[in-house]
Amino acid sequence: MSDANPARLVVLVSGAGTNLQALIDACADPAYGAKVVAVGADRDDIEGLARAERAGIPTFVRKVGQFTSREHWDLALTDTVAAFEPDVVVLAGFMKLVGPAFLGAFADRVVNTHPALCPSFPGTTGPADALAYGVKVTGATLFVVDAGVDTGAIIAQAVVPVQDDDDVESLHDRIKVAEREMLVENVGRMAREGLTISDRRVRFGR
Ligand code: GAR
Repeated sequence: MSDANPARLVVLVSGAGTNLQALIDACADPAYGAKVVAVGADRDDIEGLARAERAGIPTFVRKVGQFTSREHWDLALTDTVAAFEPDVVVLAGFMKLVGPAFLGAFADRVVNTHPALCPSFPGTTGPADALAYGVKVTGATLFVVDAGVDTGAIIAQAVVPVQDDDDVESLHDRIKVAEREMLVENVGRMAREGLTISDRRVRFGR
């Protein structure tokens, strides 16, 4: 993708949206090579959606409870995202597992950021689980989403030391600082250079 033809990002969020904000800010520079064309969520009234609205980016909400089954939700989410013709879909604090229709439609183009060093501490409580286990380093992982829970091929990782006086909030806050930098750097490279995956090994380039 070039400055004149930036990669189209659709970002899905469930909460504060600080990772989304970092991407929006990075996209303000044409040299970054990407543009957030839509932001979606699985719930209303979250700061992530407000951030998108303030930036003039179209938003949508698809709640699991609005549909008769998880499968129908997945199909609706897929159709909605597809309408924005994304080159890359970024799950940035999106607290739902996307389903087979979604992964089929955007194979190898859905990335997720997780607040732990995969394969350790998958799921929704990565920082708390790392703290409870007593690890001395944790961090964040950007990966290509597959059908598992935080099991996809790893694009990048950022390491964050655990401090003796950390609680879950202080640890997660420090992880998020490293995570945002990792996300911005690597989504930008994906947009500009493309990504090739071979036997779980990810490298930039087409
Ligand atoms: C981020 O730390 C992200 O890795 C995490 O939620 C936070 C969202 O922050 N996601 C998960 O735990 C998914 N398993 P943000 O809304 O401020 O970007």
